[in-house]
Amino acid sequence: MTQLDQLGYPIVIDDGVAAHVAAFAERRGYRTAIVLADANVALRAKRVARALGAKTQVLEFALGERRKTLRTLERVLEALAAAGAERRTLIVGVGGGVAGDLFGFAAATYMRGVPFVNVATSLVAMVDAAIGGKTGVDLRAGKNLAGVFRDPAAVFCDIGALATLPERHMREGLAEVLKHAIIEGDEVFDSLETLAPHALTKWPWETVVAQSLGVKAAIVSEDRLEAGVREALNLGHTFGHAYEVVSAYRISHGNAVAVGLRAAGLLALRTGRFSATEHLRVLSLLALLRLPMIGPVDDATALLAAMGADKKTRDGKLRFVVPRALGDVEFGVTVPARTVRAVLGRLREAPGVAEFR
Ligand SMILES: NC(=O)c1ccc[n+]([C@@H]2O[C@H](COP(=O)([O-])OP(=O)(O)OC[C@H]3O[C@@H](n4cnc5c(N)ncnc54)[C@H](O)[C@@H]3O)[C@@H](O)[C@H]2O)c1
Ligand SMILES: [Zn+2]
Repeated sequence: MTQLDQLGYPIVIDDGVAAHVAAFAERRGYRTAIVLADANVALRAKRVARALGAKTQVLEFALGERRKTLRTLERVLEALAAAGAERRTLIVGVGGGVAGDLFGFAAATYMRGVPFVNVATSLVAMVDAAIGGKTGVDLRAGKNLAGVFRDPAAVFCDIGALATLPERHMREGLAEVLKHAIIEGDEVFDSLETLAPHALTKWPWETVVAQSLGVKAAIVSEDRLEAGVREALNLGHTFGHAYEVVSAYRISHGNAVAVGLRAAGLLALRTGRFSATEHLRVLSLLALLRLPMIGPVDDATALLAAMGADKKTRDGKLRFVVPRALGDVEFGVTVPARTVRAVLGRLREAPGVAEFR
C-alpha cells in the first residue's frame, strides 16, 4: 500500500482497495454510503460495497465517453434521490476517468454537494483524471465544457483492476505516464526506460502509478485552479487536442497526446531548447510503449486553426509547453505559425535523421 497526502486528502494505491475504503468511511464516521459504478467494473464495485456494509447499495451505469453527458448526470442524480441519499451519505464512485468526472460532478451538485470518494480502475483515472479536483461532462459543443472544481474526500487507485483493463485503454494511460516522466525527469523517467522493454503484466504498477500521479499531485498542489504552473500538464496536449478535433475524435486522446509529445520535442529542438539525445530518449520510449509517433492528419491549416492560430493570438504566434530538458518544461512558449507548420510536416513521417536537423 502506498499513500500520498500532499493534496490534503488521502490518495491510496493498492492491489484491492475495498478494505481501505471501508476503513476510511469508518474513520470519518460515515454511517451510510452509496456506490456508483461503471457497469464494466461492477464486480469490483460490489466488493467495495460489501466492505462498506451489507446494506450498501450499488447503482450501476453503462458509461463510456459518449455517455459523459448531462443526460446521464440527470439519471445519476435521480438515482441518488431514489436511493435516499442524504447530506451525510458518502458517495463512492468506481470506474475510469469518465466515471470519476461524471460521478464526481454528480456528488458535487447533489444537495449542493455531498462527500465523494473516487475509486479509480483505469490507468488514466489513476495517474490523471482522479487527481486534481476537476469534474464534469461533455456538451455537444465540446468535451468537458460543464463541470466544477471540487476535491474528493479521498482517492483509491485499485491496482488489481488494471488486470481487466483492455490493452488499448492501458496505452491511453501510458501516454500520460510518459508525459509525467518527461515533466519530472530523473528517476521517474529512468525507471520508465527500465520498464518499457518488459511486458506490461510484469510492471510494478503500484510504484509506477504512485510515481506518475505524484508528478501531477505536486503540480496541482501548487496551482489548484489552473492559473499558472498547472499549464505544464498540457505538455503534448496542444498538438494532441488539434489531432483529436480535426479527426472528429476518431484519434483517441492517448494516441493524440503521444504524437503531441513528439511534436513538443520537435518544437523544443527547433527553438534551440531540447538536446537531440533527450528527444531521442523520448522517441525510444514512445516506440517501446507502442505509442504512435506519426501525425494522423495531414491538413496543417485545419490543425493550426484547431490550435487557435486563427483567434487566440495576434501576430500569428501560438503558445506551447515545451521541454527544455527532461525534468524541465517551459510553458507559455510562443512559436511562429511557420515553425508549427514545419513540425506538423515532419510529424507526417517516421522519425529519421531529418528529425534532428
Ligand atoms: N478530470 C480530469 O482532470 C481528467 C483528466 C484526464 C482525463 N479525464 C477524463 O477521463 C476520461 C478518460 O478516462 P478513461 O480512459 O479511464 O475512460 P473510461 O472511464 O471510459 O474507461 C475506459 C474503458 O474502460 C472501462 N474500464 C474502466 N476500468 C476498467 C477495468 N478495471 N477493467 C475493465 N474495464 C474497465 C470503462 O468502462 C471504459 O469502457 C475522459 O472523459 C477524460 O475527459 C479527466
Ligand atoms: Zn491528457
